[in-house]
Amino acid sequence: MSDRKAIRGTFLDFIDDPFFRPATESARFLADGLLVVEAGRIVNFGDYDEVRSQHPTLEITHYPHHLITPGFIDLHTHYPQTEMIAAYGEQLMEWLDKYTFPTEAKFQDADYARRIAVFFLEELLRNGTTTAVVLPTIFPQSVEVFFEEAQRRNLRMIAGQVLMSRNAPDFMINPAGKAYEEMRSQIQKWHGQDRLLYAITPRFAITSTPEELAMAGALKAEFPEVYVHTHLSENLKEVEFTAQLFPESRDYLNVYEQFGLVGDRSIFAHCVQLDESAFGRLSKAGAAIAYCPTSNLFLGSGLFKLHQAKSVTQPIKVGLATDVGAGTSFSMLKTMGEAYKVAQLQGQSLSSLQAFYLATLGAAKALSLDDRLGNFAIGKEADFVVLDPTATPLMKLRNPKPATTLEEVMEQAFTLMIVGDDRMVKATYVGGAIAHSLL
Ligand code: GUN
Ligand code: ZN
Repeated sequence: MSDRKAIRGTFLDFIDDPFFRPATESARFLADGLLVVEAGRIVNFGDYDEVRSQHPTLEITHYPHHLITPGFIDLHTHYPQTEMIAAYGEQLMEWLDKYTFPTEAKFQDADYARRIAVFFLEELLRNGTTTAVVLPTIFPQSVEVFFEEAQRRNLRMIAGQVLMSRNAPDFMINPAGKAYEEMRSQIQKWHGQDRLLYAITPRFAITSTPEELAMAGALKAEFPEVYVHTHLSENLKEVEFTAQLFPESRDYLNVYEQFGLVGDRSIFAHCVQLDESAFGRLSKAGAAIAYCPTSNLFLGSGLFKLHQAKSVTQPIKVGLATDVGAGTSFSMLKTMGEAYKVAQLQGQSLSSLQAFYLATLGAAKALSLDDRLGNFAIGKEADFVVLDPTATPLMKLRNPKPATTLEEVMEQAFTLMIVGDDRMVKATYVGGAIAHSLL
């Protein structure tokens, strides 16, 4: 039996990059649109009258005065850090030692890990996030339960066991040889299974020996279709320590380059402290940056140079990310709002279209998944979010009328990213089915 259904409302998505193209050529706005989904995919999309005439008997769910966008993609986050969000007072290295490693140690226990994985995934959905690139821990059971729970929810998720073999407490060390076998069998079991994808995940250069990074590079060469996911150049002390540990590398990025870990399926979180040369090499390699504004502010890491990363001459693929629990919110709306403020502090502006792009099609491109995710193109996977621009009394006052033009929707989207949060997420659809609803 067909599970075909239709959703009517106001739609906003992207067909090109609003950093490089004018709004009218990059954004697609339908004041009254109809989205038809079947078997998890988009089968029709366009103006209501036109699409309706092709499906005259189809049952329709209508969201008047709402804004429907593609599901948000969180390009970097840590599920085991959910419970330690808002750990007080430190910068990166102290924060890791004092709060993070002891918390992650609890994920040896599979039942505990499952409980937090379930909470985390539900929290993503409550915030309209349908895909995330996720770090579990060094413990294989923490990887296993995460993939199981993501699979149960039909989610497109990317994750992989965290590699750590030095510069961490004993209870957070996993020998590289053992990790290699564990990751190999995880790739075979999970990569491409339903909507799940695997990422080779050295935590960062500091916690890996050269031998371990060489092993990670060899595994990537063996399975070129999997991702590489790690942290890069977040904090000045981290950069300094990395330089001491890898004296032969010309800079931090070069550590990863030397071990074959920089390519078009590599995702580097932060990149706050990178210089021009590293930006250029990331651009050339087709690698992606996960920009984590709430985390960068919370840990005092610095201001990411988004406009340099999106330069015309050396453009880099960038997506937004929460980086929970150094990040302070699961909400991609709030994350967009903080990205706006970080731009302002550098004398730049980030438009609502640019921000929504970084959380949808831009992130899908960063993952080389834009053939499947990121906008409402026919054939893509039907993950989307229904936002309510009148969800609170203040938002109702600010957005008294539904948007009828691109200009109006840009303003409404801006209010969502500056004032919005999970309360504005009316419903989240995964593979065409409701996965979260405030109804
Ligand atoms: N660098 C290495 N590990 C971490 C982590 O857990 N969080 C952040 N923000 N940076 C890191
Ligand atoms: Zn992180």
